[in-house]
Amino acid sequence: MSNYEAIILTFEGEVATIQFNRPEKKNCMSPTLHKNMVHAVEEVRAAKSKVLVITGINDTFCAGMDLELCFLEPFDDPEKMEEINKDVFGWFKAIKDFPAVTIAKVNGWCFGGGMELAGICDIAIVANESIWGLSEVNFGIFPGGGTTWSYAHNMPARKKALYYALTADTFTGAEAEALGYATKSVPLADLDAETQKVVDMLVTKGRIVLTKTKEVYEKVIWMDFPTAIDYEMAKLWELSRETNDDWVRTALASFKKREFKPGTQTYKLVNDV
Ligand code: ACO
Repeated sequence: MSNYEAIILTFEGEVATIQFNRPEKKNCMSPTLHKNMVHAVEEVRAAKSKVLVITGINDTFCAGMDLELCFLEPFDDPEKMEEINKDVFGWFKAIKDFPAVTIAKVNGWCFGGGMELAGICDIAIVANESIWGLSEVNFGIFPGGGTTWSYAHNMPARKKALYYALTADTFTGAEAEALGYATKSVPLADLDAETQKVVDMLVTKGRIVLTKTKEVYEKVIWMDFPTAIDYEMAKLWELSRETNDDWVRTALASFKKREFKPGTQTYKLVNDV
């Protein structure tokens, strides 16, 4: 466990977990929490974890930015504002472009920047009972700092996306799944077990394979089809080289011996480089 003031970072094998730890403030993100995250994210990167789970302590995932400490208090101090923005956007961008698979485990209240974070993670396993909202219009701004990007990319139906941004109406975790914002919604009592199930599936895959799967997805959605084919083939040969051709020499060699069925099983990793 690493020593941070506003978060708890733990490692278990190839899985890192970050828990927001400001229960008295509904885990909203203070400047200290942002500094902690800047360092923690790099600690997880250096540990070469395969999976990073982000969650919150007690009844809250994250109540967004700390409205007092990130906006109100430093408002007339441009240098302080700039430093806070550098930290928050630094670690948000790092999470969006992270080598490990990122899972938002949404256990409760999830607002504004918290909703943005759930949106930039690769997977979101959420509690049916969690309450989500884009509350920005309630205090006189629009969802900014990447929040509009995040909900627009996770809530594909335009009339739903604009409805929640314009009204700040809240919705539940179960509704978040129906809206496309969450991968899966389960009763709060099952949230740990459901998240663990996903983690267990991920850790059986190769680390580079997981990273490349993310990289390729994020790039090709902006490409036309012929360009995507060329890019995907180039990345395949890059992966092949970086893994010592493991997909052919180990996985497909094992398939030839009928040792596993790739449709429903993963090959046994030998060298997880
Ligand atoms: N910024 C600063 N303080 C906050 C925040 C926040 N985002 N969220 C909660 N807190 C504080 C509360 O002010 C309260 O502090 P206090 O004990 O000093 O009065 C404490 O955390 C506990 O929160 P309560 O409001 O008492 O908890 P409750 O269960 O009644 O309500 C709720 C929870 C609905 C999440 C409420 O705290 C809330 O509306 N929070 C703000 C959510 C929000 O709009 N986030 C900003 C998004 S915008 C952005 O991220 C850019």
